[in-house]
Amino acid sequence: MNTTITLKEVDYEQPAEGGVCTTRHAWARVPAELSQAERAATKDRIRRLLKEKNAVMVSHYYVHPDLQDLAEETGGIVSDSLEMARFGRDHAAQTLVVSGVRFMGETAKILSPEKTILMPDLDATCSLDLGCPIEEFSAFCDAHPDRTVVVYANTSAAVKARADWLVTSSCALDIVRALKGQGQKILWAPDRHLGDYIRRETGADMVMWNGACIVHDEFKAFELESLKKEHPLAKVLVHPESPPDVIALADAVGSTSGILKAAREMDAREFIVATDNGMMHKLRTLNPGKLFYEAPTAGNSATCKSCAHCPWMAMNGLAGVAQVLETGANAIQVDPAIIPRARLPIDRMLAFTAALKSGQPTPGLVPNIGAA
Ligand code: 13P
Ligand code: SF4
Repeated sequence: MNTTITLKEVDYEQPAEGGVCTTRHAWARVPAELSQAERAATKDRIRRLLKEKNAVMVSHYYVHPDLQDLAEETGGIVSDSLEMARFGRDHAAQTLVVSGVRFMGETAKILSPEKTILMPDLDATCSLDLGCPIEEFSAFCDAHPDRTVVVYANTSAAVKARADWLVTSSCALDIVRALKGQGQKILWAPDRHLGDYIRRETGADMVMWNGACIVHDEFKAFELESLKKEHPLAKVLVHPESPPDVIALADAVGSTSGILKAAREMDAREFIVATDNGMMHKLRTLNPGKLFYEAPTAGNSATCKSCAHCPWMAMNGLAGVAQVLETGANAIQVDPAIIPRARLPIDRMLAFTAALKSGQPTPGLVPNIGAA
């Protein structure tokens, strides 16, 4: 029997076979642990199936290390959500296996409706997406017709279809700064912490949806200060979905790829990292001489000091990847009627960031409220 549990403001139907952490929200339908022999055999099966099915793996930094390593080893990618979208759009493979959460698979489908997009578990969602239902979001937009609608990638296809611009945490600052430079007022959704951070940094006029990431929202500034005292030379790297008092303690604030870049480039040997602990795999393998500590999510009396792992990212596993490749199950569907409109803000973001990267003038910065 399924149970409805409340994750902060959001009710979510917990899958029947899910596990529940009794002290915190960190439950998930986590794939069963595989033995070494099973892991090796499943990886071989996936390598073979990827070739047979003309498929490529697209993994996020928060998923299991096996899914990150195998993606890279087989010519796929492990990256942040922005580069996942770009890679999936540009790759010639007919099938993309997206290991991450649902909005990442939907974005891939919107950008490449002709491709098959498979995901290990279609229930892998996101509290930001869940907390921004299209009917209420539409009403919010209707109440602010004079504002340019900027939405975070962690949203449904329907919400994207209501937006003028899409952003991820790696380009939100640049895009909002440019919109502000054009005198535009912003309607922002759904992550309030990221929105607050962007507003503080850019001074843009923003009205805000009240959403949060259940993982990053848990980081604790007071506990982080204690950890900093234990490691006085450590630099603090923070994902901007974290609360403002945690961001205030950061030496660098950035998306998952921004955090990796900072760890590589900063002149320090120790780092405290406030993001999902799936990041630790890449941080440690790419920086073997450096030390990484997880930022605390719990108070002093707790036995478990940090449990920053997204329950939905945890649903992705090797067995699921092999199974969907074998059977074609779990193909992402997006209503074809909304794809062209949902694609508009994504294309704008990808064109803007590509231009920014190559030093070209950034395109598309014209008022387009209500664009069809
Ligand atoms: P990035 O865009 O930084 O990869 O973040 C996606 C996400 O879901 C963070 O919680
Ligand atoms: Fe969503 Fe947070 Fe999970 Fe990222 S870590 S997918 S923002 S719930």
